[in-house]
Amino acid sequence: MNMIILSPSILGADFKRLGEQVEEVARAGAPYIHLDVMDGTFVPSISFGMPLIESLRSCTDRVFDVHMMVEEPGRYVDAMKKAGADLICVHQEACLHLDRTVHQIREAGLRAAVALNPATPVGTLDLILSEVDMVLLMTVNPGFGGQKFIPYTLEKVRSLRRMCSERGLSTQIQVDGGITTDNVRDVIDAGADVIVAGSAVFKGNPSENVKRFLDIFQEYERR
Ligand code: DX5
Ligand code: ZN
Repeated sequence: MNMIILSPSILGADFKRLGEQVEEVARAGAPYIHLDVMDGTFVPSISFGMPLIESLRSCTDRVFDVHMMVEEPGRYVDAMKKAGADLICVHQEACLHLDRTVHQIREAGLRAAVALNPATPVGTLDLILSEVDMVLLMTVNPGFGGQKFIPYTLEKVRSLRRMCSERGLSTQIQVDGGITTDNVRDVIDAGADVIVAGSAVFKGNPSENVKRFLDIFQEYERR
């Protein structure tokens, strides 16, 4: 089993105090920072892009996990690398030439991930699975923070973990959307190991919330 990793989504943060909040969750022990880039076309909303990521880069050396909710994200690989991305995640649904885009990310020296919307079956990953470091299974429809977890996505996590194990792959499985300390055990039990949480980390006291997640992860490390 891979180590379980928390990736707080800054979309849930207080944007007036973004730098401080990123430093706070990093200090509290979150190994990744999840950055949701939205273009207003692939998803209805517009969030932020390279300038913001670049300015946050000076706050922490944690892994910048960039979730591109953008049509044809291959156009931005070099710019994202310059801005400080460590890992770029692209949606299968947003890439006409997914193989090309994944390899473009790897050739830039970054880690590559593919994301699937809730209604996209995991079988679509059949040919690309061995080429990626991580798969993101969306557990809500992408576009907004603070939505409710969609229960049928749990079965997708299980079948993707099975698919990876059958092929001898230790690919990370990330889940994103509606994850809380109440349902995180369900997604971990199903096989997820990179946990994105926006509202559940930034609402209330971020350091205490991070600690709550990390305490749960430790229960698994001790097993
Ligand atoms: C949704 C984003 C998520 C979002 C998660 O489109 O990809 O990363 O910020 O937020 P919560 O945890 O509040 O559902
Ligand atoms: Zn996300």
